[in-house]
Amino acid sequence: MRVLVTGGAGFIGSHFAKRLAAAGEEVVVLDKLTYSGNPANLAGAQVDFVEADICDQVAVAAAAAGCAAVVNFAAETHVDRSIHGASEFIETDVLGTYVLLDWARENRTRLVQVSTDEVYGDVPEGASSCEDDPLRPSSPYSASKAGGDLQVIAAVRTHGVDACITRGSNTYGPNQYPEKIIPLFVTNALDGEPLPLYGDGRQTRDWLHVEDHCTAVELVLREGASGEIYNVGGGEEVENRELTRTILELTGTDESLVRHVEDRAGHDRRYSLDASKLRALGWAPMRSLADGLPETVAWYRDNRDWWEPIKSGDYRAYYEKQYFERLS
Ligand code: NAD
Ligand code: TYD
Repeated sequence: MRVLVTGGAGFIGSHFAKRLAAAGEEVVVLDKLTYSGNPANLAGAQVDFVEADICDQVAVAAAAAGCAAVVNFAAETHVDRSIHGASEFIETDVLGTYVLLDWARENRTRLVQVSTDEVYGDVPEGASSCEDDPLRPSSPYSASKAGGDLQVIAAVRTHGVDACITRGSNTYGPNQYPEKIIPLFVTNALDGEPLPLYGDGRQTRDWLHVEDHCTAVELVLREGASGEIYNVGGGEEVENRELTRTILELTGTDESLVRHVEDRAGHDRRYSLDASKLRALGWAPMRSLADGLPETVAWYRDNRDWWEPIKSGDYRAYYEKQYFERLS
């Protein structure tokens, strides 16, 4: 099977593209190479690469020719950046998704839309989100992802497009751009830099290893029922302050690096997914945080040549904007 993997030079998409190629599938990666797209993530992978925007219908049609499926990882993905400005989020996450759906409709091709647990908004203690729960996004990022999901649902109903949605929880592992909490805190700790913990640090996230996220998307690609949504939850709910303590231990640093800083606007308190629908299809996460986090920290310790160039480039301007006042 020839598969178009959009956003395949980013964190999760690159792991997925490599996984599919290793399984013997023909993979075409289409990626705009925004700040978080990195060709180094695909080093050595047997994939064709096209640098293009998913909003560009002509480029999408050319790259997708002969593909039996599209798996869409392409997105603007960082909540804090969406608070500074959301137009790129709306373009890529909504309009881009629509362009891919339109191609899938015209070519009678399967589309898997990789979405997020953040579309449900935050979840009270003791509850978990199910696939048919209402969407209550809190951030411009999650609102854009919800907009993409709704386009998928409408295309299935109106045009009979063969599409599925996955909604994954917070994902971690090698090659994650160092703006999200785990790679940011790990690389800062390795450099003896402060760890800016938002608010009281008691927000909870449901952690999922990137390889487990990819096995879930692959299963949905191959066996998901058309029109269905599947939650992909790691089932490991951890408060940010506890996660931070573990990162300090694993990097051999101490509490003195932690700074309690001004909270994120609209900060979701807790995410939690009920993943029983996907589990019924045979999926289960294989990597616990107890194993996956030490391995991930070791990867960042051993791969400074991957993240040091990122942190010294345009990243600095973003870092100053996001953290300068918080840390001063
Ligand atoms: P990422 O930011 O690392 O990668 C996004 C990729 O998309 C980059 O390679 C970027 O260059 C590319 N891209 C952005 N705009 C594009 C455009 N207009 N056209 C083509 N390519 C474009 O993100 P990620 O963490 O790998 O997330 C991938 C997907 O998984 C996203 O849809 C995200 O919403 C979803 N997701 C992520 C997480 C997480 O914790 N990281 C959790 C659940 C769901
Ligand atoms: P993040 O990795 O940005 O993922 P998301 O917002 O999509 O869940 O943030 C994870 C949690 O970590 C979230 O509760 C916000 C918190 N956080 C901090 O406390 N400090 C930081 O510098 C960042 C980036 C996140």
